This record gives sequence, C-alpha cells and structure tokens, in this order.
Amino acid sequence: MAPKIKIPTHVAIIMDGNGRWATNRGLPRIEGHVEGVKAAERTIDAAKELGIKYLTLYAFSTENWYRPPEEVNFLMELLRDYLKEKLPTFLEKDIRVSFIGRRDRIPKDTLEWMEKVEKETKRCRSIEVFVAVDYGGRDEIVRAVNKIIKEGGREITENLLRQHLDIPPYVEDPDLLIRTGGEKRISNFLLWYISYTELYFTPVLWPDFNKEHLLEAIKDYSQRVRKFGRVK
Ligand code: IPE
Ligand code: IPE
Ligand code: MG
Repeated sequence: MAPKIKIPTHVAIIMDGNGRWATNRGLPRIEGHVEGVKAAERTIDAAKELGIKYLTLYAFSTENWYRPPEEVNFLMELLRDYLKEKLPTFLEKDIRVSFIGRRDRIPKDTLEWMEKVEKETKRCRSIEVFVAVDYGGRDEIVRAVNKIIKEGGREITENLLRQHLDIPPYVEDPDLLIRTGGEKRISNFLLWYISYTELYFTPVLWPDFNKEHLLEAIKDYSQRVRKFGRVK
C-alpha cells in the first residue's frame, strides 16, 4: 500500500531558477521569468486542488534590487501585468491573494495593482496566497519592531512580535518550505516563521515545476517525523 499522504496546511516556496532555465535555452533571463509566472499559476491551482490552505511564494527579495535595472523593471512590469490579467481568474477560482514585504519602493503602478488585487480578493477563501515582493526576513522583523515602538511598546514578546509581522497572525507557520533551482539556502525568506518548518530542496528549475513535483515534495514531507524539540 502506498504510504499515506499528509497535506501540509501552509506551504512556502522559493521560486528559484528562472534565469538558468532561460540561459540553458540560449534565451535572455527575462524569458525565464515569463515562464516562471506560468509555473506559479500551475502551482497555485495544484495547491488549491490538494487542499493546501496557505501558499507563500517568494517573488522578489530585498536583495533582488541589486540586479541589473532592466531585469528589475521587467519583473515589476511582469507582476503588474500578471495581476491585471489574472484578477478575474482569482475571483472566479476563489483565490485570495495578498502581499508581504515592503511597499515603499515598489513602482506606483505595480503597487496599485497589488493593492487592488488584495482588496478585491479579500473574501476569497479556497486558498490564501501570500506573494513576497520586496520581501526580506530581516527587514520584516525590523519593521515589526519599529511598529511596536511606534505604538509605545517597550518590551517585546514572541507573541507581540508575531502580531506585527506581515503574514497575519491567524496563519500557521509553514509546514513545508520548498526551494527549486538546486541551491540549498534560505536567502532571507520567512526567517521568523521557519523555526520548525520541514525543508525540501529540488534541482528542478522553477519554470519546469509542476503538480507532480509538488506532490513529490508533499510525499517526502509526509514521511518526516516532526518533533518540535520534544521526544516523540
Ligand atoms: C528566481 O529566479 C526569480 C527571482 C529571483 C525574481 P532567478 O532569477 O534567481 O534564477 P537564477 O537563480 O538566476 O537561475
Ligand atoms: C531568492 O532567489 C529570491 C527569490 C526566489 C525571489 P535568489 O536567486 O535571489 O537567491 P540567491 O541570490 O541565489 O541566494
Ligand atoms: Mg536565483
């Protein structure tokens, strides 16, 4: 009998390998990002079908601003155009989309679409997708602490800090973190939340990622014994 599959409540993904996917084909890096968007769409649909409640996708890091300006601009325009095109689909499929990360450096037209999509999909519940844009785990923690200071707080607790992070407090920490593209590092993603997250690294480049790959990761996750520091 096939081993039982446990569906994680919250899956986080570092969508890496777009540039290499394109370079391998003799294409400019941006073509990899275009294909990467399709992989993100496939993954959202697959996650929804599998009954995953929360999906957090790393789209652009606080460090990605240091890439060539043409690539950065392309990514921001790609995000804007994707949101513009897909808003009706999100509503139709009952997909809630919100964003984590800084909002003060994103081009105005892209930010406008981010906020519009957030507002309009607010009542969708089949799956909640958090897209990390201009997101860094360290930056998020520093912003949270500064929010607490602004409110007059003088002492931090884990609970208080958690309430000021970007992902709303009702969302459980990720059960499973997948990184595509072969690198085995976190690259400043979700630092606070991944204390006991199960990590899964795959060499598959993000534009090639599909439902079967997601299932493979979930099968692997299902075999893990989670102990949270205790004795099983
Ligand atoms: C991930 O793919 C997408 C972003 C960081 C925006 P990369 O662009 O990092 O692809 P590689 O790692 O260079 O192949
Ligand atoms: C992490 O990938 C960021 C995203 C996938 C958005 P990077 O390609 O930026 O990470 P490094 O530079 O390989 O660590
Ligand atoms: Mg990369």
